[in-house]
Amino acid sequence: MDVNIEVLIPEQDIRDRIQEMADALSERYAGENLLLVGILNGSVFFLTELAQRMSIPVEIGFMAASSYGAGTTSTGRVLVTKDLERSIDGVHVLIVEDIVDTGQTLHLLTEMLLERNPASLELAVLLDKPARRKVCLDADFIGFEIPDVFVVGWGLDYNQKYRDLPFIGVITEE
Ligand code: PRP
Repeated sequence: MDVNIEVLIPEQDIRDRIQEMADALSERYAGENLLLVGILNGSVFFLTELAQRMSIPVEIGFMAASSYGAGTTSTGRVLVTKDLERSIDGVHVLIVEDIVDTGQTLHLLTEMLLERNPASLELAVLLDKPARRKVCLDADFIGFEIPDVFVVGWGLDYNQKYRDLPFIGVITEE
C-alpha cells in the first residue's frame, strides 16, 4: 500500500547542514586518527555523506544492534548483533547515527564502547527527537532537532522502506 509522505526537511537543507557538521568535525579531529562507527542500518546514508564531506582522512566501521523494551519501559536492552572487528584502544571514536529517539540504543552502545578505552568517544546524529527521550543522552554533534513525528529518509525507514529518500519526510496517511 502506498503512503503519503510530506517533506519535513528538504534535501538541500540536509546536505548544507551535513557540510557544516563535516567542517566542525574536520576541525575537531584535525591531526588525529578518527574511526567513524556507524550503527546499522539507519546510519549508512548519513555516515557516507559525512565522511565524503570531511577534509581529514577517516576510518569507518559498523555495529548493529536491536533494542528491546524501547516502547514500554525506561530500562530497554540492546542486543549487539554485529560488533566492530578491530580494537578501539587509544582510538578517537565518533559514533554516527541517523536519530536519537529514546536514547536507549546509543546510551548502551556508548557504555559498551567506553569500556574498551578509546582515546575519545563522541556522538554525531543527523536527527534528535528530544521529546521521546527516556534516558539521559546528549549528542555532541546534532544535525536537526525534530518534533515527535514519524520520519523517513536518510536511513530512517517505515517497514524497512524509504531509507533512501534524499529528504526527511513525515508519513501523513496510508
Ligand atoms: C533506530 C535508529 C537508532 C535507534 C534510535 O534503529 O537507527 O539506532 O532506532 O532509537 P532509540 O534512541 O529509541 O534507541 P532501529 O532499531 O530502528 O534499526 P535500523 O537502524 O535498522 O532502522
